[in-house]
Amino acid sequence: MLQALDWLPHSACLWTPLPQPGLDAALHADEAALIADVAPRRRAHFAAGRACAHAALNAIGRDVDVLLRSVDGAPLWPNGVTGSISHCPDAAVAIAADSAHWTALGIDVESDRALPDDAAEYVLSAVERERLAALPGGLARWALSAFAAKECVHKCVHPLGGAFLEFDEVAIHFSFDTAADQAARFTVEPLSVKARIALAGLEWRGKLRRQDGLLFSLLAGR
Ligand SMILES: CC(C)(COP(=O)(O)OP(=O)(O)OC[C@H]1O[C@@H](n2cnc3c(N)ncnc32)[C@H](O)[C@@H]1OP(=O)(O)O)[C@@H](O)C(=O)NCCC(=O)NCCS
Repeated sequence: MLQALDWLPHSACLWTPLPQPGLDAALHADEAALIADVAPRRRAHFAAGRACAHAALNAIGRDVDVLLRSVDGAPLWPNGVTGSISHCPDAAVAIAADSAHWTALGIDVESDRALPDDAAEYVLSAVERERLAALPGGLARWALSAFAAKECVHKCVHPLGGAFLEFDEVAIHFSFDTAADQAARFTVEPLSVKARIALAGLEWRGKLRRQDGLLFSLLAGR
């Protein structure tokens, strides 16, 4: 059921297609208590994310019985571990690494469909939309990628220093080897002082990967 994504050195990344009935039975009682009052779909997504996270922790030799969360919703990784979790209607994914190798990790998975126009307008500036529209495949292909990359930014910088960046405080720049590539790289350009401070001091590596009808995105900082 769980499948490995081998795309970042010194880390373990596991994902699973959804739905995957019964995963909530594997939750620790303290994890289950976090989602006691939520709808069944959210419960299933949470459980799938935790299953991937425990598998990733196990793969790096650092699994724990229970993976709780901070008041902001970020997973509380064991000391010395960095990681990230994401889920969408069709899949869940988690990545974990020894923080000696990666200081910040942000992951995202989305069903690979065009981002609705109103959402694209909300998360991308007019300049960014124009730039992405000029790439092979146009805005329909790249708007979702830029949105996902920005979610990864949030998952990296918020646990690091508490910054909550707005979507217009960074711009995402993609590069790829050929137009047909299912993999691409991205960089994050800070557009505000707050974003510059939040991203300062680390070397960032952004990756995208399309497979199985899904778009996986990852930002890693060290
Ligand atoms: C936190 C956020 C990114 C989550 O995105 P989402 O579309 O709801 O869902 P995903 O499945 O991709 O991610 C959910 C997981 O993110 C993780 N998460 C939640 N808050 C987090 C935080 N502050 N820091 C790191 N990870 C966090 C959790 O593991 C959560 O899953 P879980 O509750 O099952 O453990 C989103 O809700 C949000 O607040 N976005 C606005 C901030 C933003 O992206 N700004 C733009 C920055 S340029």
